Amino acid sequence: MKARVSVHRDFRIGRIDDRLYSAFIEHMGRAIYGGIYEPGHPQADANGFRKDVLKFVQDLKIPAIRYPGGNFVSAYRWEDGIGPRDQRPIRLDLAWRSKETNQIGINEFADWAQMAGIEMMLAVNLGSRGLDDARNFLEYVNFPGGTALSDLRRSHGTEKPHGVKMWCLGNEMDGPWQIGHKTAVEYGRLANETAKAFKGFDPTIEAIVCGSSNDGMPTYPEWEREVLEECYENVDHISLHKYFGNSSRDTLNYFGKIEETGRYIQTIAGVIDYVKAKKRAKNDVSICFDEWNVWYHIREEDGKRIKSWDWPEAPALLEETYNFEDALFVAGLLNEFIRRSDRVRIACIAQLVNVIAPIRAEKNGPAWRQTIYYPYQFASLYGRGVALNIAVDCPTYDCNAADDVKYLDVAGVYDEAEGVVTLFVLNRHLTEAAEIDVSFTGYSSATLSLHLAMAGYDLRVGNGPDQPDRVVPVPGSGVAVEDGALKGSVPALSYHVLRLK
Ligand code: AHR
Repeated sequence: MKARVSVHRDFRIGRIDDRLYSAFIEHMGRAIYGGIYEPGHPQADANGFRKDVLKFVQDLKIPAIRYPGGNFVSAYRWEDGIGPRDQRPIRLDLAWRSKETNQIGINEFADWAQMAGIEMMLAVNLGSRGLDDARNFLEYVNFPGGTALSDLRRSHGTEKPHGVKMWCLGNEMDGPWQIGHKTAVEYGRLANETAKAFKGFDPTIEAIVCGSSNDGMPTYPEWEREVLEECYENVDHISLHKYFGNSSRDTLNYFGKIEETGRYIQTIAGVIDYVKAKKRAKNDVSICFDEWNVWYHIREEDGKRIKSWDWPEAPALLEETYNFEDALFVAGLLNEFIRRSDRVRIACIAQLVNVIAPIRAEKNGPAWRQTIYYPYQFASLYGRGVALNIAVDCPTYDCNAADDVKYLDVAGVYDEAEGVVTLFVLNRHLTEAAEIDVSFTGYSSATLSLHLAMAGYDLRVGNGPDQPDRVVPVPGSGVAVEDGALKGSVPALSYHVLRLK
């Protein structure tokens, strides 16, 4: 297969918001308890946080992290997680049919996020609770002192306010499974009043309103229209979620879901534009894709287990083990986010540790990186700067998810400060290598300074505690710069990071 790729310095999509590479972590399963926090583990620090997990997190350079849920947040009482730990109540987590010990709350999580170098993005409960509890949480978290709630925080040993700027107004409120599920108009009004109150407290706060839980929801995309008609002027982002899988073992269709996601984003961008025009509004609302990942390997099994278990504490839940195919998929999805970064400003991989996560942590055992860790890491490390509008001319295929899917999926980012162009290249062809010819216009010279590749693995193979480095990136080969163009062969089913200076 031949593929002609044109990279032009002046053909730009726009500046990528670094928060495109954010993450999400929820109080569920072993994400917090047994994930980032396991007192007594040989790697635990004085506060019980696992240093081995923290190191893997730090290496991802995650800009922001959404917390504490997810479905969990829709019945969460933030007050349960503050104050002396031995006095904190054990509660039922109705979303995941488990027990929540509240040993980690906002202040402990903030300590961990600070060590990890990540900004917090907090979600408030607009399911079982409302505006009053949300504004109290905001005051506790962000007000310096001299009021009842800010002084309460100080009395808990957290002198300085956390200064959280990103606030999610509930979670998946379109989902009938959600505790406190609402109609679009009911939710839109509540979100509007909450956003207004939050901005009254601090106009620089960014309010994130719930969009659809996925593009298969019966209310999609009408939900977004109705919600935004209630709150457009007071919100900054609308959140989208989508999880992926390949239960039918149709690799090309799986990879076609990358294009399907592009359509999802484009549709919601259209709804945003429609409501903006209808309201004669001046402000822009962007997309916050704050839950995305692969979730299908043990989804059905977990669904059955959860129904039959007896309210366990931190049970193993949604502990998907990812394979090489999933890594290729995640690489392509991140490419789509880069291409759509003019509308998607924030995106969060869901989740971060143990629960549908790039990092796993064994109880009393080692932490290890899943296959999907690497494409996420490379996008975060090298995908910052200006997204380029790259032309790719190559054979295409049709599948259930989308038509005209290019076998070669390419995204490009120009780092102006470093003068480096990074190309993220995915060859989705099942059997054919791509003979690539990449031309560069407007750049003084092109030298290949880095080539990392993930290639040659069986699609179904992944990593595990006993073989943590079975599927890893290695230095790539087979492409080189010739007469200012990048030429060579990219094997079937492979992913490459190419940095050119
Ligand atoms: O990430 C797991 C769950 O998926 C979240 O709690 C929920 O928001 C979504 O349905």
